[in-house]
Amino acid sequence: MSKKSLQWWLAGASLCAVLPVWSQTMPEGPGREILDRSCNTCHAFSARVGGGYTAQGWATVLRMMSNQGLVLAVDQSLTLSDYLIRNFPEKAKPAGVAIPGPVQVSIKAWQVPTPGSRPHDPLATKDGALWYSGQMANVLGRLDPRTGQFKEYALKTAHSGPHGLVEDQGGNIWYTGNTGALIGKLDPATGANSEYPMPDPAVRDPHTLVFDRDGILWFTAQNANRIGRLDPATGEIKLLTPPTANSRPYGMAVNSKGTVFYVAFGSNRVGSVDPKTLAIREYPLPDAASRPRRITITSDDIVWYADCSRGYLGRLDPASGKVSEWPSPSGPKAEPYGISAIHDIIWYSESGTTPNTIVRFDPKSERFQSWNIPGGGNIVRNTSVTSDGNFVLANSLTNQLTLVTITK
Ligand code: HEC
Repeated sequence: MSKKSLQWWLAGASLCAVLPVWSQTMPEGPGREILDRSCNTCHAFSARVGGGYTAQGWATVLRMMSNQGLVLAVDQSLTLSDYLIRNFPEKAKPAGVAIPGPVQVSIKAWQVPTPGSRPHDPLATKDGALWYSGQMANVLGRLDPRTGQFKEYALKTAHSGPHGLVEDQGGNIWYTGNTGALIGKLDPATGANSEYPMPDPAVRDPHTLVFDRDGILWFTAQNANRIGRLDPATGEIKLLTPPTANSRPYGMAVNSKGTVFYVAFGSNRVGSVDPKTLAIREYPLPDAASRPRRITITSDDIVWYADCSRGYLGRLDPASGKVSEWPSPSGPKAEPYGISAIHDIIWYSESGTTPNTIVRFDPKSERFQSWNIPGGGNIVRNTSVTSDGNFVLANSLTNQLTLVTITK
């Protein structure tokens, strides 16, 4: 175990001291004691339970936690699982709305090899492969969609939490280590894995990353409220602080002129960074309740954002500051999330619906078309586009990678 992950474990262990405060709210019954003891060390259980899970979802959660290092005897695991299923069932979610339209797709999903991987980001690379970050399994995975063959690359630092993914010109895969406080680089040809730790100990959660036109790597750090700049030639990292406190920089994209844009998930703001002067500019969105989560940019340099909290698709013209918004097909609780532009058509996923959906929006006609994701899709946190213009999803809780081929 590296020094950093040991520190992380010790930090978790010291949290045990305040255990009784958390346990007060937990329902009585067999399993509660196991929960109190085992599920509050790395994080407070109550801060993670969210809207609950289905029985299958709880099995996935327990699998993910064991990938993180949780050790439970089989009988304890069964008792705890019954307790979780009984007391924290999934809260009702809106139905995914399928709107008919002119386009046809075929959808193919693959189960990734390690159970409880929580595939976070998908990435279609130039060689036709589909990659994903196995956040809870500490791997980067590569799928050859032609043969269905997977290869997993284990990462150096234990529990580094691989999260965002991008490819550089030379075919290296770069990722954010969201719990390891690092940026990583993997050379698929040799399996060599280099790591670039954050230069400031307060910056612990590198999140999403993107290359600009000059080969500089930019990234967000959500809870740290930072924008990072990494020069791959020297390894130097610079950290910038957006003007709004706790703005939670999240999704990121670069426009045709090389300006870096991001969405601030803790506020109703889109931000931009001038890559030369490093000046940050914020664009407030009209509704104070907006929480833009992910972003994509079309060839006309229009910024599109998925407003997760209100269930809207948004359009910002940075030149004029003008904003237009459309309610997402499945309504205010649809939770639009992963989003990409394909030939200037917007594609995204609604993550708050059962099942999750794939949504297509044509900016010219302002029409939506949508599809339910077979198998539930359950939480598409980010999306990617293949070089031949198809849509790629990582399905974090169903442990899948999905290719949406646009056939007509
Ligand atoms: C060894 C550390 C560790 C232990 C022990 C642990 N967790 Fe976690 N848990 C994590 C990490 C890391 C994450 C993901 C990052 C985060 O949300 O902090 C997580 C996230 C979660 C999530 C959110 C999952 C999601 O997909 O959003 C749930 C639910 C959860 N844990 C439940 C539990 C339960 C139940 C237990 C006890 C059986 C437990 N955890 C014990 C490390 C741990």
